[in-house]
Amino acid sequence: MTEAILLVGGKGTRLRPLTMHTPKPMVPAAGVPFLTHQLARARAAGVEHIVLATSYLAEVFEPYFGDGSALGLHLEYVTEVEPLGTGGAIRNVASRLRSAPDEPVLIFNGDILTGLDIEALVDTHRTTGADVSLHLTRVEDPRAFGLVPTDATGRVTAFLEKPQTPEEIVTDQINAGAYVFNRSVIDSIPADRPVSVERETFPGLLAAGAHLQGMVDSTYWLDLGTPQAFVRGSADLVLGRAPSPAVPGRCGDRLVLDTAEVAPDAKLTGGTVIGAGAVVEPGARVDGSTVLDGAVIEAGAQVRDSLVGAGARIGARTVLEGAVIGDGAFVGADNELRAGARIWCGARIDAASIRFSSDQ
Ligand code: GTP
Repeated sequence: MTEAILLVGGKGTRLRPLTMHTPKPMVPAAGVPFLTHQLARARAAGVEHIVLATSYLAEVFEPYFGDGSALGLHLEYVTEVEPLGTGGAIRNVASRLRSAPDEPVLIFNGDILTGLDIEALVDTHRTTGADVSLHLTRVEDPRAFGLVPTDATGRVTAFLEKPQTPEEIVTDQINAGAYVFNRSVIDSIPADRPVSVERETFPGLLAAGAHLQGMVDSTYWLDLGTPQAFVRGSADLVLGRAPSPAVPGRCGDRLVLDTAEVAPDAKLTGGTVIGAGAVVEPGARVDGSTVLDGAVIEAGAQVRDSLVGAGARIGARTVLEGAVIGDGAFVGADNELRAGARIWCGARIDAASIRFSSDQ
C-alpha cells in the first residue's frame, strides 16, 4: 500500500488576507477545509497512511483531522521548527515513513485541486523503474510555472523554473505538484536545512543521472494559490467539474450548508457556497462565490466571483466582483469593489465610500 506526504506548511502569502489566521489548506472550499478534498481523493486511490508536513500555523491541523480515522486514514503530523521549504519538508518527515528503500511514496503539494489519476501515476513509476515520477499538466501560458520538457518516452530532460524569454518556453508541460519518490531518494535529501524540491532536488537528481519520469495527465488541474483561483476551485467543486468525494452535499449550482439562512428570492448560482450560519437577505445575488461561515450578505447586494470571509458583512446593494473580504470585515451599503480588491480581516468600509473608477 502506497503511503503519502502532504506539504501543507507554506505561508500562503498570495492568498492573504485569507491566510492571516488560517493556513491555506484549511481555508474552506465547497464547505470543508480544502485539505479534506485532497485527503479524500488520496484515500479513494488506496492511500491509507499520510504524513502532513506542517509549519505555518501548524497547530490547527491536528485538532480538526485528528488521527484521520473519520476519513478512513491514519494521519501523522510533523512540524518544522523553521520552515524547511518543499524539499526540506519532505526530508523532515522521512522517519515516519514505513516504506522500504525501493518502494514508492506519493507526495502532494497542499494547494492543488486536480482530477489526477493517482493510481496511474504510481503505475507509471513502477513500470518505468523511475527514481522519481512527476505529474505534468499542460497550460496555455507557462510563464508563472516550472517547465518540465520530456523526451519521446516521457523521461524528463530539464527543469526550467519560471521561464521569461520566448526561447526559454520550450514546452507547455508544467510541474503539477504531485510526485512519486522512491523512499531512498527522500532519504538522500539533506536534512536540517531549507531545500526547494523544484529548484534544488529535481535539477540535482537530473544532473546526477537519476531517472525522472513525467506523466502528462490533462484532467482538471488548478493551483489554488491566488484568491481568484481559490474561488474558481471552490465553485468547480460545487458544480462537479472538479472531482472530490468530500463535497458535503449534492453537486449543482449552489451548496447551502445546514444552518445557513437564504431568503427565498435571493439568487445563488455558478457553484456558490454559503457557509454554516451565514445569512443571505432578500434580493441578493451571489454567483460563483464562496461565502464563509457566519457571513451576512444584506438585501440587494450583488456578489460575483468573490470570497466573503467568516463573519464578514456585506451591506445592502453593495457590488463585489472578483473581491476578497477578510474574516470579520464590514463593507457598508452602496459600495462597489471590483477586480482583485482585498479588504483586510476586521476592516471597516463606510457606506457609499468606494466606487469603481472606470464607471465615472
Ligand atoms: P505563497 O506564499 O502564496 O507562494 O504560497 P505557499 O507558501 O503555499 O508556497 P507554494 O505555493 O510555493 O508551496 C507549494 C506547497 O508546498 C504548498 O502546499 C505549501 O503549503 C508547501 N510548502 C511551501 N513551503 C513549505 C515549507 O517550508 N514547509 C512545508 N512543510 N511546506 C511548505
